[in-house]
Amino acid sequence: MAFSGKRILVTGSSRGIGYATAAHFLSTGARVAINGRTVASTAEGIEQLGGGDQLIAASGDVGTAAGCVSVVEAAAKGLGGLDILVNSAGVAYFLPVEASDEAIWNATIDTNLKGTFFCMRAALPYLRDSEGNIVNLASDAGLMGENGLTVYCASKGGVVNLTRAMALELAPSVRVNCVCPGYVDTDMVRRDIIDQADDPNSEEQAIIDYAPLKRMSTPGEIAKAIAYLASDDAAFITGSALPIDGGSTAGH
Ligand SMILES: NC(=O)c1ccc[n+]([C@@H]2O[C@H](COP(=O)([O-])OP(=O)(O)OC[C@H]3O[C@@H](n4cnc5c(N)ncnc54)[C@H](O)[C@@H]3O)[C@@H](O)[C@H]2O)c1
Repeated sequence: MAFSGKRILVTGSSRGIGYATAAHFLSTGARVAINGRTVASTAEGIEQLGGGDQLIAASGDVGTAAGCVSVVEAAAKGLGGLDILVNSAGVAYFLPVEASDEAIWNATIDTNLKGTFFCMRAALPYLRDSEGNIVNLASDAGLMGENGLTVYCASKGGVVNLTRAMALELAPSVRVNCVCPGYVDTDMVRRDIIDQADDPNSEEQAIIDYAPLKRMSTPGEIAKAIAYLASDDAAFITGSALPIDGGSTAGH
């Protein structure tokens, strides 16, 4: 199988895109370290994935540098090294600028941008050793501005350029890429946008209409793109930011 024996850490993998990515790698022969913010959420993710020796627990908050080190070390210890790191842990607050105070700024930047950097940094010795690679979760909101998502846009724009700069610095031994999804049907979108809207049905329709292809993507579609970038088929791809957005960044 494509990832047979590969040692992979996916942050934020107890739910959503991270969970789907972990499931995809697992089904193609990899050993995967699962990261949820807490021991309980990590254990729940592992149980839902079916448990077994192929899955390692690496719980912890990747919103601090120390948390990133602890998560990466737990994964590398449990797996005996690391071949691939996927940074999927992320948060989004759909708020106007006036409601985006310092706490919102810190919570967003700490997990989305700082966490991505410090997980990459902590994983470097292992990835240099294995000549492995990294895939980060950016967003279409990292490639263009989105109304009502200013702080999130800043964090994801940062992830796109962090990916490019790291790709230059780590070449030729370690590849670094990111994916830029549009709306994906996960808790992040259901909980944070649709459920909180005054009119959830029209909010959901607006999200569906946002992409020229007129739907959200599934987490599994994002997982497959991540797996492609992490695979040997993408051996000549580094520093790229791949939109998977149904055409939302193609123009209007
Ligand atoms: N869903 C979308 O529409 C969409 C679109 C573009 C990009 N993304 C990005 O994809 C990634 C995954 O999003 P999702 O839709 O699966 O979200 P989600 O909310 O469904 O899942 C995110 C997971 O990350 C975990 N997490 C958050 N902060 C953490 C922290 N500090 N430490 C450890 N774990 C933490 C959460 O507990 C959760 O398990 C995020 O980076 C998000 O910004 C999502």
